[in-house]
Amino acid sequence: MNVLLIGGGGREHALAWKISQSPRLEKFFAIPGSPGIADFAECVENISINDNAALVKFSQEKNIDLVVVGPEAPLVNGLADELDAAGVKVFGPKKIAAQMEGSKIFAKRLMKKYKIPTADFEVFDDAEAAKNFIRAKGAPIVVKADGLAAGKGVIVAQTLDEALVAVDEMKTFGAAGNKIVVEEFMDGEEASVLALTDGEKIIPLVAAQDHKRVFDGDKGLNTGGMGAYAPAPVVDEKISALVEEKILKPTIAALNAEGIVYRGCLYAGLMIVGGQPKVVEFNCRFGDPETQAVLPLMESDLLKLMDECAAGKLSDEKISWSKNSAVCVILASGGYPKAYKKNLPIDGIAKAKTLGAMIFHAGTKFSNGSLVTSGGRVLGVTITAPTLREAVDKVYRCIEVVHFDDMHYRKDIAAKALK
Ligand code: AMP
Ligand code: GLY
Repeated sequence: MNVLLIGGGGREHALAWKISQSPRLEKFFAIPGSPGIADFAECVENISINDNAALVKFSQEKNIDLVVVGPEAPLVNGLADELDAAGVKVFGPKKIAAQMEGSKIFAKRLMKKYKIPTADFEVFDDAEAAKNFIRAKGAPIVVKADGLAAGKGVIVAQTLDEALVAVDEMKTFGAAGNKIVVEEFMDGEEASVLALTDGEKIIPLVAAQDHKRVFDGDKGLNTGGMGAYAPAPVVDEKISALVEEKILKPTIAALNAEGIVYRGCLYAGLMIVGGQPKVVEFNCRFGDPETQAVLPLMESDLLKLMDECAAGKLSDEKISWSKNSAVCVILASGGYPKAYKKNLPIDGIAKAKTLGAMIFHAGTKFSNGSLVTSGGRVLGVTITAPTLREAVDKVYRCIEVVHFDDMHYRKDIAAKALK
């Protein structure tokens, strides 16, 4: 198969690494790709991932058999619709189905209508009405922009004042903040379950746990994710069965009942509250960095599975998993998720690899032949080992040999699971 991968972050590097192991793979392209993805695929940088027409044209010219879409924006922008209309198979939901991530209101209303467990909520397009509701409910409470806001549209307010300020902040997100969701605060432990679906069947991958806050002990601002590990023990066999029966299967059935076919990866962000999983949010794509911890444990052929999902013919074969644990720690630019420096030289990747680490590039580029930083999240360092304890110890030993100025990372990834 000829495959085109859209995206260039750590998630896409992990996808590229896994896809490259498939015996089915023939030609492999990535737009835009990255210095890490370039080990596996021909990277094409002069086409924008938001230019649907150019992506369709490229796919046709290169006889692409499957397009794998990494990030959410192209899916919410209808890339899958245009590829499908041109007869190009695509892993990733169409625009209407991508609303599961693209519109919090769409996802919340669907869950309410079909009784899928999630936090209680109200929708507002008037700031004063939202504030009156918040005053009546009290804190803690959660304020969310309806649309995509680059991961910044959610404020978990611990006090009434914070919540009222949050309502006004939603205006800074442009159209995404025209409507807001105010929802009940859920107190529990978070987990991410990514699931592959062909629109009817849905197969969960091993559960992972992300670390959203920038500093140790879940302090500081929310980020795209500072590290992840899998499997996450908080999703034990019992919870896992509940996730499948009460969330994943009913969600696919609910979409079908609304006349919507969802093909691709459905990411369920969960809160485990008193032994019951509830949905925090859905995403319409693989998680980042969760993918960098989950895929290294997968033994099955991911390309085959994605191709079956895209064709609407997912087989009954079980996914086979390594018995190991995986941990991924993100090395970020100091200052992220606010302003940070770029173009800082990166050293030590080769050494870390000789120590057994997998290094996924999240924000790097070549400048005059040397590798430099180019994003907030720079590298993901993943280790798999027979126990989570061993994986954690080893990943931090590997990180010691990697360097760039102002490098910041959390020292407590997976600490919750090791307690
Ligand atoms: P989201 O972008 O929807 O994933 O939200 C970002 C983060 O905010 C989540 O990972 C949770 O940590 C937190 N969050 C969102 N909604 C709630 C809620 N209803 N209760 C508690 N925490 C929440
Ligand atoms: N790690 C969170 C996300 O992918 O949205």
